Amino acid sequence: MKLKNLLPAVILTSLFIYSCGSNPQPAGDSPNATMKEPGDKSGVPVVTDNSKGKGKFTEVKLTSPLDQKMVAGGKAIYDVKCNACHKLNDEKLVGPGWKGVTDRRKPEWIMNFTTNTDEMIDKDPEVQAMLEKCLVRMPNQHISDEDARNILEFMRNNDGKN
Ligand code: HEC
Repeated sequence: MKLKNLLPAVILTSLFIYSCGSNPQPAGDSPNATMKEPGDKSGVPVVTDNSKGKGKFTEVKLTSPLDQKMVAGGKAIYDVKCNACHKLNDEKLVGPGWKGVTDRRKPEWIMNFTTNTDEMIDKDPEVQAMLEKCLVRMPNQHISDEDARNILEFMRNNDGKN
């Protein structure tokens, strides 16, 4: 029975595709090749997501160098509305740590999720995979478009972008 033999492997693979605490995926490695020991706080690497998510942001223009005023604005929001659940390194708190988030997600995805949280939780497969690991629905934080853009700039700064 071929199918029977394959099943455990398939289940294992799907279990390790995403972990709530996540690391950017080193190029060329399969998710399982770099799998960490259980209990490793950095968790299992995540596959880069190329989708823009669901919401009004279809084209976000990034600027270089970073706009430090926006970074500061984003940090102010983070300190009040996000840091209870998100660390800036790769450790999971309630939600995934933000380190590397701008590498694993498109800017549009991040801004759509920040402003259109409920719809994305209901419809976006990437969010649903996170929800399965984190077991908490990220609450709608009522973030304005401008603040969402500032938070994105703050995340880019946190990821060492310039
Ligand atoms: C009450 C806890 C909580 C708060 C507060 C919170 N989040 Fe989240 N966040 C989560 C959880 C949990 C997830 C994983 C998805 C899920 O389970 O809904 C998540 C996921 C995310 C992700 C995706 C991360 C990734 O690795 O792909 C982003 C981006 C994000 N949150 C942004 C924000 C922003 C911006 C704020 C503040 C304005 C915020 N969050 C506040 C709990 C929270």
